[in-house]
Amino acid sequence: MTDNLTVIDHPLVRHKISLLRDKETKSVVFRALVREIAQLMTFEATRELQLVDRDIETPMAPMTARVLANPGPVLVSILRAGNAMLDGVLDLIPTASVSHIGVYRDHETLEAVEYSFNGPPDIADRLNIVVDPMLATANSSIAALSQLKSRGVRDIRMVSILAAPEGLAAFADAHPDVPLFVGAVDERLNEKGYIIPGLGDAGDRAFGT
Ligand code: PRP
Ligand code: URA
Repeated sequence: MTDNLTVIDHPLVRHKISLLRDKETKSVVFRALVREIAQLMTFEATRELQLVDRDIETPMAPMTARVLANPGPVLVSILRAGNAMLDGVLDLIPTASVSHIGVYRDHETLEAVEYSFNGPPDIADRLNIVVDPMLATANSSIAALSQLKSRGVRDIRMVSILAAPEGLAAFADAHPDVPLFVGAVDERLNEKGYIIPGLGDAGDRAFGT
């Protein structure tokens, strides 16, 4: 594991992850839960966001208030399942820009296959907050972060709801400089690379495929 790992084991996060895991939870509820968990995790993952002074007037008096610096962070969604988390982070940081990285796991090899990248031109100068609910082998996240670094991005945070110990070790090996925030660490991966006990396939469950 890594010094850069934070497990956000807040009771609300744990409770909502348990509801997510339940195989009876339908897509519409699943998406709502992922969005809420992403919001709760964002609270912790954005603790070091930069603030600047802004002069304002309250109804009572002038004051120098602290507001988010511009430009704000870039939110990076690893498709598809990252999109379910993205909405939650955007709820809290509506002025953020968004990048989409298309990556899927080859079902046989479990290697990450990258198929698209779309983001704003100034990503290298900004904090990039990457979201994907699942960190199993970590191949997908590792590939996404390598893609960002190859485009000059240096300030990165990764937020995942569920992780396997195998994925945490691989992630720490590949990107020891990137702070990683997870909601829970499960027991292990099975022979097909699924997290046990996990929650199944996050993309399929979120989007009903
Ligand atoms: C899922 C998930 C992660 C990846 C995690 O995506 O959203 O991106 O698997 O597994 P890994 O850590 O072993 O790489 P998937 O490949 O199912 O793509 P999808 O979201 O498009 O369905
Ligand atoms: N991707 C998922 O969606 N679920 C897992 O358990 C592993 C990878």
